[in-house]
Amino acid sequence: MRSRNISTKENSKLSNSIDKLRVPKHIAIIMDGNGRWAIKKGLPRSFGHNKGVSVLKEIIKASKSLECNVLTVYAFSTENWTRPSKEVDFLINLFEKVLKKEISEIHQESIKISFIGDLSPFPKALKSIINSSESLTKNNKDFTLNICVNYGGRQEIVKAARKIAIKSCSGEINPSDIDEQLFNSELLTSGINDPELLIRTSGEKRISNFLLWQLAYSEIYITDVMWPDFNENEFLKAIIDYQSRDRRFGGIQSLPKDSCKNPNYSS
Ligand code: IPE
Ligand code: IPE
Ligand code: MG
Repeated sequence: MRSRNISTKENSKLSNSIDKLRVPKHIAIIMDGNGRWAIKKGLPRSFGHNKGVSVLKEIIKASKSLECNVLTVYAFSTENWTRPSKEVDFLINLFEKVLKKEISEIHQESIKISFIGDLSPFPKALKSIINSSESLTKNNKDFTLNICVNYGGRQEIVKAARKIAIKSCSGEINPSDIDEQLFNSELLTSGINDPELLIRTSGEKRISNFLLWQLAYSEIYITDVMWPDFNENEFLKAIIDYQSRDRRFGGIQSLPKDSCKNPNYSS
C-alpha cells in the first residue's frame, strides 16, 4: 500500500537509484517526532502516535520488498516513563490495540515479531498479547520486526554484565572467557546481527540510549522529517544515502561494494 501523498514519479526514480545488491540487511529506526508533528497541526500528541503506526506499516512493507529483512524500531524507552501518565497510558493502550488488530496480518505476511526490553512493568493484558504474538510468529522466516519497548541501552548492558558476573562467580565461566562475543550473547539482541543503518527522524542528533553496543559501526542517517510524515520515499532516500557511504571499520580501505557486513565484528 502506497500512501496517498507519495509521489509515484519520485518513487520510481528513487527505486531505480537503489543498488539492490547493497541494501542493508538490518535497519534500526528511532521513530521520533510524533508529538511535535501533532502539536504543529493543533492536535493532541496522541494523534501523532496514531499516525506513526500507519507509517510503520508502510515502512515494513517497503523494507520487505527491498529484502531488508530485519527492522528494529524504538517504540518506548526506559526514559519515556517520565512523560505525563496520560501519554504513557495512551501509548501502552495503543501497543495493545495495534497488536490485537494487526497480529493476524503480521502472521500472514510471514513476519516474526519480537519485543526487546523489560516487559515486567507493563499491564498483564499487554504482556499476554506480546507473548502470544511472539509465539504465533516465532517460526516465520520472511521478515523480522523487533520492537524495543521499555528498552534502554545502558540497562541492557548492565543486565548483561550482571549475568556474566553471576556465571563467573558460580564458576560456569572464567573471567578470561569474557570477550566481545560472549558479552554480545548476553544482550537482549543476542542472535541478531548489528544494524548496518540507523535512521532517526525529527532532526535530533542523538541516539537517546538506543542500541548502544549494537550501533558501534552502524551508519547514521538523520532526517528532519517527523516520523508521521516519513514514508517509503524517505526510506528509499535513507538507503540511497547509506549506499554512498565509505564503510572502513577503522581501516583505510572500504569494504567491497557488494558487502554489507563488518568483517571485524559480527554477532
Ligand atoms: C516518538 O515521538 C514516540 C515515542 C517516544 C513514544 P515523540 O513522542 O518523542 O514525539 P516528539 O519527539 O515529542 O515530537
Ligand atoms: C527516543 O525518542 C525514544 C523513542 C523514539 C521511543 P525520545 O523523544 O524519547 O528521545 P529524546 O527525549 O528526544 O532524547
Ligand atoms: Mg521525541
